[in-house]
Amino acid sequence: MRSPVGASLLAKAADQTSQISNLPALPQSPYNRALFPEGTPLVADKRYSCIGLYNPKSPENVGSVMRAAGCYGVASVFYTGKRYERAADFVTDTKRVHYDIPLIGIDDLKKILPLNCVPVAVELVEGARPLPEYTHPDRALYIFGPEDGSLDKEIRDWCEDVVYIPTTGCMNLAATVNVVLYDRMAKGLNTRSGPKFR
Ligand SMILES: C[S@@+](CC[C@H](N)C(=O)[O-])C[C@H]1O[C@@H](n2cnc3c(N)ncnc32)[C@H](O)[C@@H]1O
Repeated sequence: MRSPVGASLLAKAADQTSQISNLPALPQSPYNRALFPEGTPLVADKRYSCIGLYNPKSPENVGSVMRAAGCYGVASVFYTGKRYERAADFVTDTKRVHYDIPLIGIDDLKKILPLNCVPVAVELVEGARPLPEYTHPDRALYIFGPEDGSLDKEIRDWCEDVVYIPTTGCMNLAATVNVVLYDRMAKGLNTRSGPKFR
């Protein structure tokens, strides 16, 4: 015979299941169609940003990116490649942000795209959209190229948007991360869903 506690847990689980199945479906777009099956529920309405660093080279830059991540409330930072790991010492992360915000090495940034998060390539290339006029996604994974290279076409094509900052010549990697995060913060609740998202 089922105990009263067991029966109440079962009832609670059934209730949670019906709540999940009543959630609206994700809007369709090329990236979530590919990664998440049609009808995947929208699980939350919280806005956030993540950072993806494509094969970064210098620990000083990654440390400064972590510091920016702490200042602007980034959820997590991902990086590819092995160059940075060889010399990682976080000298510029004087606030020890990497103790609090996950910094995760991965072989392919496409594998870590969180649910309902929009990949945005940040690169100074022809055809990119100027950051000052850009409306940020509610949930964004901003991807940056290496200090000694650029994001290749394959990753730019995979991203939903490509944005650039109209500078004369390119900026330092960590400086670019700070500018993008500042722009997102300065635009406040004016992400794509507006105040619907927290
Ligand atoms: C130091 S830059 C790369 C160097 C550059 N490709 C060159 O000409 O040698 C590192 C990364 O910062 C970002 N970046 C720098 N300046 C930028 C700008 N004005 N607009 C958009 N992204 C920029 C890009 O993601 C770039 O891949």
